[in-house]
Amino acid sequence: MTQELNQMDAQKYLQAMGLGPVWHLRNPETLAATPEVAPEMPSPLVDVAEEKNPPAVDIAQQEPVRDVTPVQVKQLLTEDMSWEVLQETVAACQACRLCQGRQKTVFGVGDQKARWLFVGEGPGYNENIQGQPFVGTAGQLLDNMLNALGLKRGEATYIANVVKCRPTDDLGKDRPPSADEIAACLPYLQRQIALIQPEVIVALGKTAAIALLGLSPETPVGQLREKVHHYQSLPLIVTYHPAYLLRKPADKAKAWADLCLARSSLGDSAA
Ligand code: URA
Ligand code: SF4
Repeated sequence: MTQELNQMDAQKYLQAMGLGPVWHLRNPETLAATPEVAPEMPSPLVDVAEEKNPPAVDIAQQEPVRDVTPVQVKQLLTEDMSWEVLQETVAACQACRLCQGRQKTVFGVGDQKARWLFVGEGPGYNENIQGQPFVGTAGQLLDNMLNALGLKRGEATYIANVVKCRPTDDLGKDRPPSADEIAACLPYLQRQIALIQPEVIVALGKTAAIALLGLSPETPVGQLREKVHHYQSLPLIVTYHPAYLLRKPADKAKAWADLCLARSSLGDSAA
């Protein structure tokens, strides 16, 4: 492929991600080394704040949680558990309080033999209804990020979350999962990773990064970017969560640099 063609393709992809036509592709190394970008960048996507949130769920009306500890979830998952059984186990799971308000568990979507695994935080309002990950406005941006890499949802990619049920606050709004909810649900993601064996993992935001790397919740995403981490032996790249990028579009250029780093780490297993 000629240099010129590469540039043309890259422009198309960057545009799909909401980075064009203002931005020109630079060498990924240069881009990574140049974190400051122009402050105003038009985004074709609406702000996540516009996503609807339903009224609070009355959890007092619901069944009590079955008494299963995170350790028991781990024990439940055997080394030979198939994808199908794992999926059914998640659909019936009551190992943490998040089962109480859920409409649907969100297992993940995509190719079970994906080269790329994208990991988000947990289902939001729309995902809880549809049972699919990243279907809201953040999902549109994630799709654009995939397009920018020449990828498509479901083809060579898998999209999952750290927790499979939607965390909500007292007002029924989305919130990040707590440490005990993450601990309860993480074994499912770990089993998904063991079955998929992706060539690269992209942690979308802090929750995914700290859960998969076992870090302190205080660690800022900014400190984790621009390096190749490893989950077991698999390369893992940390970037911003698409919902954050919708609020702060100026950081999309940094996210693109992260995706370029992920692409160059494909298949670089440390094993
Ligand atoms: N945000 C996430 O982290 N995951 C989703 O599935 C949707 C929004
Ligand atoms: Fe089970 Fe995970 Fe849902 Fe908690 S969030 S109930 S651990 S599937």
